[in-house]
Amino acid sequence: MSDGDNSPFLIEDYRFLEPPRARSRRPRYWYLSLAAIFCIGIMTALLVMYFGGTTLVCRRESDQQTGVWSPLADAVVFEDINFANNFSHKSPYRGPPNPEIEREWNRLILFDPIGIEGDKLPRLNRSIVDPWTMATAPGHEREYIVAFEVFHQLHCLNLIRQYTWLDHYAVPPSSLRGGDRVGNRMHVDHCIETLRLSLMCNADITPFLTRNHDVNDPTNRLNAKADFDSFHKCKKWDPLVSWVRDHTWEKSNIDELRPAHHFKSTYDNHEEGL
Ligand SMILES: *[C@@H]1O[C@H](CO)[C@@H](O)[C@H](O)[C@H]1NC(C)=O
Ligand SMILES: *[C@@H]1O[C@H](CO)[C@@H](O)[C@H](O)[C@H]1NC(C)=O
Repeated sequence: MSDGDNSPFLIEDYRFLEPPRARSRRPRYWYLSLAAIFCIGIMTALLVMYFGGTTLVCRRESDQQTGVWSPLADAVVFEDINFANNFSHKSPYRGPPNPEIEREWNRLILFDPIGIEGDKLPRLNRSIVDPWTMATAPGHEREYIVAFEVFHQLHCLNLIRQYTWLDHYAVPPSSLRGGDRVGNRMHVDHCIETLRLSLMCNADITPFLTRNHDVNDPTNRLNAKADFDSFHKCKKWDPLVSWVRDHTWEKSNIDELRPAHHFKSTYDNHEEGL
């Protein structure tokens, strides 16, 4: 009865001669095929569901460069840019303080609170037994409050900038108003250390070139001028800011995360001092 022993033509002939009982085998064989296809379909669906969260959907939980867990990781988009940073390049962040420059710097510093679940603490090398600040906003009571280092670092850079221009302010900027001379110096000193740690931790290994520079300058033995407009691969800024704005439950600023004696008034007020 084996089909394999016959040519296709013979099978046709043979089937024609089969008794009714033998003929009924054909539909049963089809059900088996359908069952096999069904099983393969289920298995494929299970595989997709299993790997979907990690590979197919590709929702990122960690910084692609460092592997550090962050709720902001999924908002990271890289872009290729040449810095616009020659020695005299104009920028909204450079120059003697004026209300517009202060506003631009303030807009870089975002301390809106973000909530994370307790099971994420070990990924930040922290234990749930310590008294970390928890959110009080409705619906977020079981979340721990975090902010992001980049904004602390920008706050520090801004503070150092303001310190270098201190005699240009009629009233000192709020972050330098609360402390006495020693207190301000300590704060700036902390900020310099903050940036040193961060710069070394994130060591930017992007190479920059130097251009031949035909000036007979005895202090410039290489006769070369650095190209600080170097090519960079950067995390886009705006998506990070949008993510923080979209995931916070209240607008905040750094003043609320600091001991009160450091900051007596909010950032928004120090334009009045100019
Ligand atoms: C610096 O960049 C500006 C434009 O960004 C350009 O106009 C100027 O020529 C550059 N200066 C030097 C010295 O390269
Ligand atoms: C933090 O990291 C150190 C060094 O890797 C480790 O010994 C320690 O157990 C970690 N603590 C927590 C709470 O994860």
